Order: sequence, then C-alpha cells, then structure tokens
Amino acid sequence: MEMKHSVYIQVEHLTTSFKLPHGGRLVAVNDISFDIHHGEILGVVGESGSGKSVMAKSLLQLVPVPGTIDSGKVFLNGVDILTYSDKEMRSNIRGTEISMIFQEPMSALNPSFSVQWQIEEVLRLHTDLNKKERYERVLDILRKVSIPDPEKRMKEYPHQFSGGMQQRVLIAIALASSPRLLIADEPTTALDVTVQADIMDFLEDMRQNNGPSILLISHNLNLVTERSDRIMVMYASRIMEMATSIDLVGNPLHPYTIGLMDSVPDMGKDGQKLTAIPGELPNLAELGDGCVFYRRCSKAMSICKEVTPELAKVGPEHYCSCHLYRALLDGGK
Ligand SMILES: Nc1ncnc2c1ncn2[C@@H]1O[C@H](COP(=O)(O)OP(=O)(O)OP(=O)(O)O)[C@@H](O)[C@H]1O
Ligand SMILES: [Mg+2]
Repeated sequence: MEMKHSVYIQVEHLTTSFKLPHGGRLVAVNDISFDIHHGEILGVVGESGSGKSVMAKSLLQLVPVPGTIDSGKVFLNGVDILTYSDKEMRSNIRGTEISMIFQEPMSALNPSFSVQWQIEEVLRLHTDLNKKERYERVLDILRKVSIPDPEKRMKEYPHQFSGGMQQRVLIAIALASSPRLLIADEPTTALDVTVQADIMDFLEDMRQNNGPSILLISHNLNLVTERSDRIMVMYASRIMEMATSIDLVGNPLHPYTIGLMDSVPDMGKDGQKLTAIPGELPNLAELGDGCVFYRRCSKAMSICKEVTPELAKVGPEHYCSCHLYRALLDGGK
C-alpha cells in the first residue's frame, strides 16, 4: 500500500456467506479488498442487497446466524482482527476502535432504558470513569450531537425522541467511547432532507476536528459523492469500482457506475433506491464465473460471461473491475 496516506484498516479478500435452509450458500460479500485511511470518509454505494451491511458487520464479526466469514483478513495495526475471539472483539475492538450505527435505529435502541443509561452503559464498559464523570461525559456528548436541553432529555426514553433525535442518540452512543472508525450504515435514510443535511454536517465537522474515520454506507449517490473523500461502488457482493469522489464523478469507468451516474436527477431524492439500470441483482446463491454485472451490462463481451474481472488499478487511487479496461490495466501495470 502507498504510504502517502496512513492506512487505518486494511481489508483483504473478505468473503461472507449465509447457509440456505435448503442447502447451498448465498455469498453476500465476495472477495472484497479495500482500506480506510486515518481521518477519511469512505463512501459505499450500491443497490439494495449488494452486500453493504453484511460487509460492514463482517468487520466487527457481527454477521448474524446462519452467516459465516469464510475467508479474508482485516488488518488493524498489523493484526488480523478476524482471528480475534468474540471476547477479544468486545474488549479490544467494538466500541473502542470501531463503532457502528446500525441501519435500523429503533432496533438498536433499548426501549426500556433512558437515553442517559444507554450512553452511560458504553462508558461503564469501556472506561474507568466514576458516576459523576460519566454523567458529565454523557452531557458533553449530547451537546456535541446537538440535542437541545440535554440535562432534561437524557432522562427520557427512546420513544420520546423524534426519528432525527433518535439517530443523534445512536451517534452519541457510537461516539461515547471515542472510536477510531465510525461505520454509519444508512445513517439518514429514514430522515427528512434537512435533518439528513444536519447530521451529515455534524459527522463532517467531527471528522475535521480530529474525529474518527467514517465508513459511510448509503443508497443515495448524491449524498455519498458530496460527503466522501473516496467511494466504493458495490454490486451483487463485489466491488465494481473504487476512486476518489472527484474521479468517480468526473471519470466513472465501470458500466455499472456510469449507469448510476446517468440517473443522477432521481438519485438525490430522499430515500430513492438505486434501481436506475434495467434488470435485477443476480441470485447470490447461484453466482458462477464471469462478471456479476454481465446480464445487465450494455457493454458486455463474451469474456465477461466466462471470467470474473479482478479489481485492478486503472489510475492513481482508481480501481475498476471490468474487462473493458484490460488494455488500460496491461499498460498501467
Ligand atoms: N441474516 C441474513 N440471513 C440470510 N441472508 C442475509 C442475511 N442478511 C443479509 N442477507 C443477504 O445478504 C445479501 C446482502 O445483504 P445486505 O443487507 O448486506 O445488503 P445491503 O447492500 O446492505 O442492502 P440495503 O441497501 O437494502 O441495506 C442479500 O442477498 C441479503 O438477502
Ligand atoms: Mg444494508
């Protein structure tokens, strides 16, 4: 890896699958490699079912049963954390190194405990702070995520908060233990546009003030291109293209990415799903050789049906997995 940017976490050939009830496996994340730099926002886009959430949960070893991480490595400070036990993940990684804001806010908040209790719980688990210090810290975090009147509101329960405020509470919980990486899985999808912008401004400010790196997962291509330093485009369990936001918008190479970009007017709409290209995701339980996008690709060639293209470097910080760029790759290596 280039030393120009310091790498925080490095993912190599990650593959995660689910056992199907009638036999066989559904491969949700297929041989994915990427890294996240210190302090950057890395965006992940791709239509529903492309494997974004499973990829994120794999990093934390939180893939639900009957899913398993089948292969790959996740290096953090030189150590492959996929070799960690659940206990080691809890004490060394989850919360302290990597926190995740899950896609379903209400299911992540416990309805029977006050907001104060839920944020304090993180501090009880991860810090040596005493009761009074914890109280101060909870107040401070709630102020940071702009919850008004935090002394009063911290005593309240999740259902007393609006969707936007619940999302802020989740961010507060994720940030309470000062992680180095925040995984934000669709952090704003359920929210109206102004609240979305507010939350994104907040995450961006935090990042600029020495905050954590952010893995920003979203359906919303406009949101991701506006807010991320680099972007990873996923399709049917694989990475199609990865580049800086500027490159991806200015010079998209993969036919899938180009298809997404061409439909941009629709893309910015709140909650709009990425289904601009005719056709549907292939069945992830029946993927053989060949490009996963082959059937929907207007540029498909015969090789695309036979050979899975590798994600290869096509420019500085620009990677693409498409046979069309073979000439570029061969010249560029
Ligand atoms: N618990 C599970 N059991 C079985 N299959 C699952 C499970 N969770 C996810 N999958 C499958 O893994 C694939 C990837 O799902 P994932 O949730 O990662 O998609 P996603 O890109 O996050 O989609 P969305 O944009 O809708 O959140 C899908 O085919 C999905 O059906
Ligand atoms: Mg998801």
